Amino acid sequence: MDIKNNDLIKIIKNHYGDEFEKFIEWARFPLRPIIRINTIKANVNDVYNRLTNKGFILSKINFINFAFRVEYYPYEIGKTLEHYLGYIYVQEFSSMLPAILLEPKEEDIILDLCAAPGSKTTLISQLMNNRGVIIANDVDIDRTSILAFNVDRMGCLNVIITQYKGEIFHNYYESYFDKVLVDAPCSAIGTLHKNKEVIKWFNYKKVKEFSKLQKNLIESAFRCLKEGGYLVYSTCTITYEENEEVIDYLLKKYQNAKVEKILLNFDHHYNDYLNYGIYLKFGEFEPFYICKIRKI
Ligand SMILES: C[S@@+](CC[C@H](N)C(=O)[O-])C[C@H]1O[C@@H](n2cnc3c(N)ncnc32)[C@H](O)[C@@H]1O
Repeated sequence: MDIKNNDLIKIIKNHYGDEFEKFIEWARFPLRPIIRINTIKANVNDVYNRLTNKGFILSKINFINFAFRVEYYPYEIGKTLEHYLGYIYVQEFSSMLPAILLEPKEEDIILDLCAAPGSKTTLISQLMNNRGVIIANDVDIDRTSILAFNVDRMGCLNVIITQYKGEIFHNYYESYFDKVLVDAPCSAIGTLHKNKEVIKWFNYKKVKEFSKLQKNLIESAFRCLKEGGYLVYSTCTITYEENEEVIDYLLKKYQNAKVEKILLNFDHHYNDYLNYGIYLKFGEFEPFYICKIRKI
């Protein structure tokens, strides 16, 4: 793949070093889709059987008992009745992890600050067995409509949707939530395998702008947390400014913010440069950055 964007090439070389060429090769083709079976509406075995009877070949994702890679599809999985009925959600494994690491519990009040189109909101709802409360916020009205559509399709009854700038949320909900997810808007280099637009618009100035917004979002999110609560910060990108630098900003400003070690029993990840969070490796999964913070 020919990437005619010097800023982007520099960032990828800087992050992946010797694996630069390997990453470029990897980014040429989309990954096979992964689906999550929505246990709010359906039973995992039933949906597995329905799809395999239609000719889909599914293989289990080791770590999550309701997630499957679609090895073969006779037609687009997004066009099945099961998708329409909200029995399945097409979602990268990497995108499931931040919601899982938030460890949602039935009794929690959770804020998903940048929620649209709702991949993680609807998974959090599933993990809460459709109980507790999730406030799912996004600044973008069009994307919020898609969020509402997905929340409805997946049968999530514990979700309230709001449309505000995330960075002002603490003005209304200081110390209110048990858990907060900040799945931040970012330069999205990890999505290059399916989104070649990144090559056109990526530049350092944009990275700096994202970094500033992300710092404001994580700060507001942290202030919204109750004492003892958890915040998960994630991006689908690999720039220092949008990941480690954002966490560093929060930790330096708030003495009561402490990084929690993320322990995963598979080897598709490595620690970030400052040992705050983890990066998921490109390969089977999409690159993703995840950091977990506790308010003490
Ligand atoms: C990476 S996407 C979120 C994906 C979503 N969490 C999911 O899993 O489906 C980032 C989102 O942040 C939203 N966003 C951008 N600026 C924002 C802001 N200032 N406040 C709240 N949301 C914002 C964008 O509209 C976009 O939907």
